[in-house]
Amino acid sequence: MSAPLPFELQEVDHVAIAVRDLDGAARFYEETLGAKVAHRERIDSDGVEEALLQVADSYVQLLTPTREDSPVARYLEKKGEGLHHVGFRVSDCAAALEAMRAAGASVIDEVPRPGSRGTTVAFVHPRSAFGTLIELVQEGS
Ligand code: CO
Repeated sequence: MSAPLPFELQEVDHVAIAVRDLDGAARFYEETLGAKVAHRERIDSDGVEEALLQVADSYVQLLTPTREDSPVARYLEKKGEGLHHVGFRVSDCAAALEAMRAAGASVIDEVPRPGSRGTTVAFVHPRSAFGTLIELVQEGS
């Protein structure tokens, strides 16, 4: 076994799904699965608007682009609607990012940055995570 990691993996924080119609998708999750919208936020730096639907202690994060040059807009154009990334809740985003980088992962964010609902986040490239974009999420800053 390898050495213990300097952070704790606490939860699957959210599963993010790229959609074209945020209201329609949120209604679908509410009406067919009974999930409630817990939070909505527009994140202008990322060019997205999100709706977080609560599922026990995790969320489904519906994401839609707010401008044509946002990464989510490019994703929709290339791949269509569907699974965009998985967010893992960690005790220490900076430590988790550093541990992944040390393990050879290619990181998108060199340092953690502010995420939605006051979290601190960093993204790791799908090419170093078997094809899935990974977000490290820490509650608070
Ligand atoms: Co996310």
